[in-house]
Amino acid sequence: MRNERRVLVTGAGGFIGHHLVKRLKSDGHWVRGVDIKYPEYEPSASDAFEILDLRKAENCLLATRGGIDEVYNLAADMGGIGYITAYLAEISRNNILINAHMLEASRQNGVQRFLFSSSACVYNQSKQQDAAVIPLREEDAHPADPEPGYGWEKLFAEELCRYYYKDYGFETRIVRFHNVYGPLGTYEGGKEKAPAAICRKLALAEDNGEIEVWGDGEQTRSFMYVDDCVEGLVRIMTSDHRDPINLGTDELVTINGLVDMVARIAGKQITKRHNRSGPQGVRGRNSDNTRLREVLGWEPSIRLEQGLTVTFQWIAAQVLSKPSVFVAASTAAD
Ligand SMILES: NC(=O)c1ccc[n+]([C@@H]2O[C@H](COP(=O)([O-])OP(=O)(O)OC[C@H]3O[C@@H](n4cnc5c(N)ncnc54)[C@H](O)[C@@H]3O)[C@@H](O)[C@H]2O)c1
Repeated sequence: MRNERRVLVTGAGGFIGHHLVKRLKSDGHWVRGVDIKYPEYEPSASDAFEILDLRKAENCLLATRGGIDEVYNLAADMGGIGYITAYLAEISRNNILINAHMLEASRQNGVQRFLFSSSACVYNQSKQQDAAVIPLREEDAHPADPEPGYGWEKLFAEELCRYYYKDYGFETRIVRFHNVYGPLGTYEGGKEKAPAAICRKLALAEDNGEIEVWGDGEQTRSFMYVDDCVEGLVRIMTSDHRDPINLGTDELVTINGLVDMVARIAGKQITKRHNRSGPQGVRGRNSDNTRLREVLGWEPSIRLEQGLTVTFQWIAAQVLSKPSVFVAASTAAD
């Protein structure tokens, strides 16, 4: 493959897609971004940005036209745990349509490689019932018992990628993200995830104030800073590895620990009010990076406190620069 490539990023108006476009441009590629919305916080760095609803097959053909070499398929209807547990039918239907049509359009238009952004939500829920979770290996997705809706759809789309390789020799890459956070991510409105929601709540809280945390806060997760995510995506796309692969950190933290960390960064004392009726997702989830290290000789290395410091500063600047609207948001995570 030549060095300069023509690349399509779907979901380029979203959080990870927007960062990925910047990275691909700085690597010297020609990039088309596609989404149903423009990026919210700054213009896209892409050479061309097209508004297309990728649930429609004809729009997927348009998106992949004109000799695209690589597709990073990041478009999805998704949000934090509150969102993905509330709209099972709509999310599943939207994402099935996007992924099935994008795969077929990419194949028809002669795309060389297709990367599918899957999720740790595909993992068998029975392996995530303890906060002191054993990190999830790629094979722990089977036997299948993923997160309802979003997780089932991601798992099926993974399978579809494999069938496209088996039946057509179409080159697919399957990446399972574990909780990505960073600046320019959604931080309000109901689709935000735990780190962004907690940063927003801390930015708005008075010193010695109180914030709401869903569940008892002892549920555990690992979180990956967006720069590590983008680096991993580019490396996995260029690797020869076709099977699903984790992309996350294995720095496990409780949600209470995450709140305490952000409070330290914010320089505020706060009390946590635990709302035990709020959705929490699985009890514990961590990434086993053994395969990632074997395949790439690399793994995410940005420490949570370092990434959260940058993220908090960005979110605080956003919320303090406009009249604040309080929206109850997730304190568990995808
Ligand atoms: N952020 C995470 O922690 C995380 C974790 C696991 C998996 N993922 C996956 O990574 C990908 C990117 O996630 P993100 O965090 O950037 O989310 P995001 O919501 O910021 O970006 C997704 C983008 O897809 C777009 N989209 C939705 N429906 C569309 C449609 N019909 N046509 C065209 N575009 C459409 C949205 O407008 C949005 O801009 C998604 O596939 C997501 O499922 C993310």
